[in-house]
Amino acid sequence: MTQPEIDKSLESSLTTDRIANMAFAACQSSVLIAALELDLFTAISEGFNEPAKIAERIKIPADSVARLICACVGLKLVERRNDKYYNALDVDKFLVKGKPSYNGDYFAIQGKADYNSWKDIVPALRQPVPSKKGTKKPYYFEDPQSARDYAVALYNLAWETAQRFATRDYFSRCSLFLDLGGGAGQYSIAAAQENLHLRAIVFDYPNVVAVAEEYINKSGVSDRVKTVPGDFFDTEFPSGADLAAYYASLQAYGPDDVQFLINKAFNALEPGGALIILDYMINEDKTGPPEALFRHLQLRLLPENPGYVNTAKEFHDYLMKAGFIEIRVIAGRNSPMGWVFGRKPK
Ligand SMILES: C[S@@+](CC[C@H](N)C(=O)[O-])C[C@H]1O[C@@H](n2cnc3c(N)ncnc32)[C@H](O)[C@@H]1O
Repeated sequence: MTQPEIDKSLESSLTTDRIANMAFAACQSSVLIAALELDLFTAISEGFNEPAKIAERIKIPADSVARLICACVGLKLVERRNDKYYNALDVDKFLVKGKPSYNGDYFAIQGKADYNSWKDIVPALRQPVPSKKGTKKPYYFEDPQSARDYAVALYNLAWETAQRFATRDYFSRCSLFLDLGGGAGQYSIAAAQENLHLRAIVFDYPNVVAVAEEYINKSGVSDRVKTVPGDFFDTEFPSGADLAAYYASLQAYGPDDVQFLINKAFNALEPGGALIILDYMINEDKTGPPEALFRHLQLRLLPENPGYVNTAKEFHDYLMKAGFIEIRVIAGRNSPMGWVFGRKPK
C-alpha cells in the first residue's frame, strides 16, 4: 500500500527540524557524559565558577572548559549569571559527587555503554539472532571492577525506589525474600530495614554479590540478608522463599530463557509463595512507551545476549504456563516499566 494522500497545505509547512533534532541527538549525551567524566558539575558546586579556575580544578585546557561549559549552558545543565557559572537545580541534586542523591556514575557508565552500542546499530542489526541464548554473561560481570562500578551505580539509582517498595504489604507478609539478580542488594537491604522479621537472599553473579556483601554489612542487616553467588542458568536457586523477585533482570533474555527463569522461580518458591517482576514493558500494539521500544531495539544490539522487552500479555502467559495463579500485570502509567505478580498454588 502506498502512503495515503496528504493535504498539500500541510505538506508545504513541513520542516526538517524534528529530523535534525534526532540526527544530532548524540551531541547531547556526549556533552553530558564528558561533563560527568571530567567532574565539571562537582567543580562548579565546590565554588569553581569561572572557566580559568574550573580548568585548573578539572585539569583540562581553559579553552576546552570554555567550550564545554557553553554547550552545558545550551543544554540548560549549567546557568550563566554575571560571568559566573552555576549548576541547574537537578544537576546540583543528582550529578554532584558526594551528595547522597548522586547518580552521575550511573548516567556516565550506562550513557557511554548505550552510546557505544547504538553507534554500531547497522552491523548489529545485520547479524543473525544467536539460537542459544542466556549462556554468555556480559563482559562487565566477568571483570570485578566493571561489575563493581555497575552494581554501585545501580544501587544509588534504585535506592529511593527500593525504600518505597520496602513498605509494600507483600514484604510485611513474607518471611524469606529471594532477590534474583539483586545487584548490590538495594531491594533486599531496604526491605529488611523496613520489615524487621524479614530474611532475604541476594542472588547474582559472584563479582556482584561481593559488592552486595559490603552494602549488607554496612547497613546493619547482615544477620538477616545473605548472598548466593551464581548464574541463573547454571546454579540451583535457594529453596524456602515465600517471595521471589526479578527486578529489572529479565530484559537481558529472550522469550525462551524468560519462560525458563520464571519456571525456575516457580519451582524454587514455597507453595503459596509469590513472584514479582519489575521490568520494561511494551504496550500490546507495540506503539509505546518510547523508552521501552528503544530498549527493545537496543537489546538486539548486544552481541553477548540479545534480550527482549515483553508486553503485558507475554508476561501474563509466561506466568500462566509456569503454573502461577492470581496473576496481575500492570503497565507503568508514566514509565516504561511494568509490574507483574503471580502466586504459586498452595
Ligand atoms: C539491571 S540489573 C538490576 C539490579 C537490581 N535488581 C535493581 O533493580 O536495581 C540486573 C541484575 O541481574 C543480574 N543478572 C543478570 N543475568 C544474570 C544471571 N544469568 N545470573 C545471575 N545474575 C544475573 C545482573 O548481574 C544485575 O545485577
